[in-house]
Amino acid sequence: MILFYKAFFYFCKMNNKKLIIAIDGYSSSGKSTIAKSLAKKLKYIYVDSGAMYRAVTYKLLKNNIDFKNIDKIKEILKSTTIDFIIQNGENIIFLDNECVEDKIRSLYISSHVSEVSAIPEVREFLVKIQRKLGEKGGIVMDGRDIGTVVYPNADLKFFIDADINIRAKRRHLEMEAKTGEKINLEDVKNNLVKRDKIDSSRKHSPLKLADDAIVINTDNMTKEEQLQYIFDIVKKKEDELNSSS
Ligand code: DC
Repeated sequence: MILFYKAFFYFCKMNNKKLIIAIDGYSSSGKSTIAKSLAKKLKYIYVDSGAMYRAVTYKLLKNNIDFKNIDKIKEILKSTTIDFIIQNGENIIFLDNECVEDKIRSLYISSHVSEVSAIPEVREFLVKIQRKLGEKGGIVMDGRDIGTVVYPNADLKFFIDADINIRAKRRHLEMEAKTGEKINLEDVKNNLVKRDKIDSSRKHSPLKLADDAIVINTDNMTKEEQLQYIFDIVKKKEDELNSSS
């Protein structure tokens, strides 16, 4: 009898519904850090959708493609592949089989990425890949339009916000660490302000709060507090869904 209950318990656990979790927010609000650690704790896949827009920007710039030449961009996208490969526990982005994880984080790419991500053909191309990645659930994806466009039916949606000065300091630290270059903090802040404006006002899939998103301001929360807060909400949702199925 005990064996039967044990088997039943493991069967239920195996059939636990894995959620789709959308995390949106402004540039450098801390959403990627939260999304990454949440995915690790839940043993879910983590996808940084911003990295995908950065990778396309990198390719267009490398090939000297005019951002207004839509026919050329469409042609380039046809032969573009974007993959995520887990290395040392991190989900690393590969563009056309080349690791571009560090190259896409420079200020040069940051200052062009909003323009590229406003191109509908680029968005269409990447949204298709993003939806495919989440087909089986068990995914945490962060970006700007994840809860509104990519997964409007996500099981949970979070919107992360933080003060602009705090965001600028975070991005500055991250960029210096990733690129090894000395970078001016004011330049980073100006870039964030500019990107927020373009990202929120663009015609296609602008950054906006989904009606059913949970808003979290991270100004006065440590990373551990942010993670625990979100994790508790996710666990509650998992229990709800699994007890009703
Ligand atoms: O998250 P990030 O700063 O690395 O994103 C880079 C840019 O990509 C950002 O300025 C807006 C764009 N982006 C987007 O338009 N939609 C997404 N889902 C993710 C990012």
